[in-house]
Amino acid sequence: MFGINLQNFLLILGFLSKEPNFSNCGFAKISPYINDKKVFFEKLSFKKNQDSLKKDRKDAGALKVKKEILQKNYQIYSDLLLKYDYIKIAEKLVGEKIYPYVVMHIINDKKTKELIWHRDQYFHGNAFVGPKFKLYKLAIYLQDTSKKNGVTGFIPKFLSPRIRNRYLDTIFAYFSSFLSIHPRLSMGEAIIFSGKIMHHRPRQKNNNYREAIIFSCTNNPNNLPDLKDNENEFLNVFLRSKINLGIK
Ligand SMILES: [Fe+2]
Repeated sequence: MFGINLQNFLLILGFLSKEPNFSNCGFAKISPYINDKKVFFEKLSFKKNQDSLKKDRKDAGALKVKKEILQKNYQIYSDLLLKYDYIKIAEKLVGEKIYPYVVMHIINDKKTKELIWHRDQYFHGNAFVGPKFKLYKLAIYLQDTSKKNGVTGFIPKFLSPRIRNRYLDTIFAYFSSFLSIHPRLSMGEAIIFSGKIMHHRPRQKNNNYREAIIFSCTNNPNNLPDLKDNENEFLNVFLRSKINLGIK
């Protein structure tokens, strides 16, 4: 409730355009057009395929599609990103090229705990933690998703000073979390966010599982020399699809 009021307040102050703007907030919404969404995303879903899932204790107990099954779907994920313009829209929002290199297919249920406030890339003292290149995450949600069923929440960039101590940074995030924004997304909508932005995954409060496909992305394939040489890596499946579809 408060989050929505805050959004309106910031709108009045002129900090936000109608949707969170990537350069101010560090995240933005992607709304592609997909025909007959319900059938389309049901086919992609693993909700009824529990055997394909594995609990990841390091990710607050979220359920993840097992690697060997995930790999068989690389072509489908890659086509999803390209044919439905997720990448094209995301590139416009961030103002540079985007190359997804890792994919994760994840389901939360009621047993999944909150994934606490954190950044994927940060300084702790003088040490830089996380990937040493430009990192974006692109998360596609397979059902209508809000704070009640675990949508990723953010503290906008302009409200969140980066503190060079990971513990203080997280404590500060909890104190300022009343300023956080939890987007309301409909089936098939996505969020692109910077690796440097403060975010969390709230605990699910209703019975709607949250299922999402999350891509780690960067701005240049040359950032990923190790992945570039292995043709089975998701990055290369994506690069081949791009050529096949005639996308620059
Ligand atoms: Fe994260």
